Amino acid sequence: MRDYISIYINGEPRQIKGDHAFMTLSDYLRYERGLVGTKVVCAEGDCGACTVLIGNARSLKDGDFEYVPVNSCISFMHILDGCHIVTVEGLKNGDELNEVQKSMVDNHGAQCGFCTPGFVCALNAGAEASASSGKKFTEKKVKNALTGNLCRCTGYKSIIEAGLNIDMAKFEPLTSKYDSAEILKNLRSDIAKATRVKSETNEVYLPTKLSDAIEHVRGDDCVLISGASDLGVLYNKRGYDPSSLLGLHNIEEMNQIIKGEGEVFIGARVNLHKIEQELRDELYEFTHMIHIFASPQIKNRATLVGNIANASPIGDSIPFLMVMNAKIILIGSQGERVVNINDFYQGYKKLDMKDDEFIKGVSIPLLDEGEKVKLYKTSNRKDMDISIVTFASKFKVNEDKIEDIQIAVGGVGPVVMRVEQTENELKGKTFNKSAFESASMILKKEVTPIDDVRGTANFRRILSKNMLLKFYAEESLNISRGGK
Ligand SMILES: Cc1cc2nc3c(=O)[nH]c(=O)nc-3n(C[C@H](O)[C@H](O)[C@H](O)COP(=O)(O)OP(=O)(O)OC[C@H]3O[C@@H](n4cnc5c(N)ncnc54)[C@H](O)[C@@H]3O)c2cc1C
Ligand code: FES
Ligand code: FES
Repeated sequence: MRDYISIYINGEPRQIKGDHAFMTLSDYLRYERGLVGTKVVCAEGDCGACTVLIGNARSLKDGDFEYVPVNSCISFMHILDGCHIVTVEGLKNGDELNEVQKSMVDNHGAQCGFCTPGFVCALNAGAEASASSGKKFTEKKVKNALTGNLCRCTGYKSIIEAGLNIDMAKFEPLTSKYDSAEILKNLRSDIAKATRVKSETNEVYLPTKLSDAIEHVRGDDCVLISGASDLGVLYNKRGYDPSSLLGLHNIEEMNQIIKGEGEVFIGARVNLHKIEQELRDELYEFTHMIHIFASPQIKNRATLVGNIANASPIGDSIPFLMVMNAKIILIGSQGERVVNINDFYQGYKKLDMKDDEFIKGVSIPLLDEGEKVKLYKTSNRKDMDISIVTFASKFKVNEDKIEDIQIAVGGVGPVVMRVEQTENELKGKTFNKSAFESASMILKKEVTPIDDVRGTANFRRILSKNMLLKFYAEESLNISRGGK
């Protein structure tokens, strides 16, 4: 059993022990390593000032590291076990700026400069992905790469220009700058062994076998931690600091997506980035929605299972999973138990999950012949914003008749709601405007929102109704154009 977290920082191996394992990465870099290029502004994943790059020994691309951006302010050291971390200091070549850094200077991409290291790291990740795919770093890709970064004084035009003017012919990817083979060999040998790290007040256990995780949950009142995009914010902003944590990231099957007959299994430690990359064919609409889920930095850490377990009434994945009748696979000392997600939420943040159980993964049935799915998210701005109301529908229309329809709406009650009265009103009806107009009036009454800072209850009722009408308008246009 190891008693340390194994990481590399800018090509140097580090064994992280004791209190250091429970620090956020940004604090560790700044206060323990003096790498003060990494800045902290919001400390809640929203501004990107703390962005660094990580290559994870568990999720390689074409056999090598895939360096992706993450928010270091909400990443604990222990969840980075097995990662190579590259900070803004680790990008330069000796005393020379790298091509991304040079382009920021040449294109006047910084005024006060406080946000700049985060922008440089985010752009570097985008350039890295373009270099590895052999495709151009286009304006769309530059803008996507910068979704999670805020600048208060330069303005984005010159930063985007900096991205577009990176000299890609001279850009050296981190996979060639650092000795991947050596780093990978050492990290992989470490993460093959379970680790338990303790400080005076905290303990984290990272087993390599599912059976050890089950055994641990039985005897210990521990908190499961995945990407920490929720738990990291709670730690920074509310002082939530559980004394015992269990992480599943060194258990191989927890990092897997399994494409089975008629369904896909997504392990508890699979992040949204991986789902977006690997399940485009199987879950097209959902992977499309992941585009507007948070930022690249968050999606590189946040897991689907974390979103399910967080149980937010505005969790963006939940309406989709409900209409798909996704199966939550729970595991504990009594064995495995499968719960339909529609029965999983028993009240605000109350789950059908026993104290000695945790989520092993989620199985999502694929669409049958003739079935379609539509997903909508309404928020005050398109990118990086919390939903006000979310909407999902799975449906089958046969010769103008609505053969079957499932609808789930989020942000309109203590949990995401399946609106069965509205569904029943539509089932068997002709797919036309009058059917949807009367169903939308039922939906408006069926949802149970409250007033809050993002919108009044009445606003949310109207939004829900209008989303159903939008769904009808889009789909009827599609049908009239001969779309399936
Ligand atoms: C800046 C920012 C933007 C965000 N944007 C969005 C957004 O657009 N849409 C959205 O829906 N959410 C958003 N979120 C919320 C968050 O990213 C998601 O809820 C995410 O999916 C959580 O996953 P995680 O792996 O980080 O979970 P963690 O933070 O690790 O854990 C979340 C909860 O799940 C529990 N848990 C984790 N794993 C398991 C398991 N295997 N079994 C049982 N319980 C478990 C934890 O104990 C904890 O209670 C955002 C968060 C931030 C900070
Ligand atoms: S400091 Fe703002 S995202 Fe980390
Ligand atoms: S240069 Fe000042 S915040 Fe971006």
